[in-house]
Amino acid sequence: MIIDKIEPLREYLNGKRRTGLRVGLVPTMGYLHEGHLSLIRRAKKENNVVAVSIFVNPTQFAPNEDFEAYPRDIARDHALATEAGADVVFHPGVAEMYPPNSSTFVEVGGEMTKVLCGTSRPTHFRGVTTVVNMLFNIVNPDNAYFGQKDAQQAAVIEKMLRDLHLGINIVVCPIVRETSGLAMSSRNKYLSEAEKTAALVLSRSLAAAKRAIDKGQRSSAEIAKMITEQISKEPMAKIDYVSVYSYPDLVAVEKIEARTLVALAVRFGKTRLIDNIIIE
Ligand code: PAJ
Repeated sequence: MIIDKIEPLREYLNGKRRTGLRVGLVPTMGYLHEGHLSLIRRAKKENNVVAVSIFVNPTQFAPNEDFEAYPRDIARDHALATEAGADVVFHPGVAEMYPPNSSTFVEVGGEMTKVLCGTSRPTHFRGVTTVVNMLFNIVNPDNAYFGQKDAQQAAVIEKMLRDLHLGINIVVCPIVRETSGLAMSSRNKYLSEAEKTAALVLSRSLAAAKRAIDKGQRSSAEIAKMITEQISKEPMAKIDYVSVYSYPDLVAVEKIEARTLVALAVRFGKTRLIDNIIIE
């Protein structure tokens, strides 16, 4: 079932909740792949009713970014989401979520939205937290599911939850990869075959970093250098950042001691890819 308006979705979910059913939410921008489906399957295991939202959110794209070009295929997404366990797909239009006079944003302040992806995408996270907050208000879920693929996004949403005292449980699920190692992403569709092959350097360099850390390397600078050197050998790759931060508070660390995020963003042609590992 696809619902494209807020009120009927509320009525449907309220009906379920009145009978004591637990509601899980999986927010997405669609063009679903195995990464998204892993979240839906997990949500189905832990909830009675699963709502999947499919909404390419304009406020998280900067004017020079790919909002218009972002791949969309609602018929295919509906079939895939339903097969994975979605009870309802919420697919609102832009005017339903942002009526013409809408002017309120939810913004997580401090450094954590300015570092990593926040540096090259300064308005991105306020778009994400605004729409996720809307979805939380509309769906009122018990549990909401996010991927570690967007580790900074998950950390920022958890911070918003704490700061705004939202009583929602967040579940962060592991990164799903192609057998080649490439982290699944709707944006992989933009890559040419040559770029897709070149992009394997990302997961390869992160895996090498993980091995070095497992062998005892504790210097963030050395780890970042190792990854940067490996990626720089790939002529098609243009590095945006390679960074080592504490997780989930996202403070740059010199030594890898507690829970640590090793994250990167790299451009291949016009496509910007992100990937990461979390060291426990
Ligand atoms: P989107 O990029 O569609 O991703 C939706 C969810 O799927 C996110 O939580 C993301 O981390 C997760 N995901 C994407 N690729 C994954 C992979 N390879 N393995 C595991 N999980 C993966 O992230 C967004 O949409 C938007 O910012 C959104 C939260 C929906 C707000 O608009």
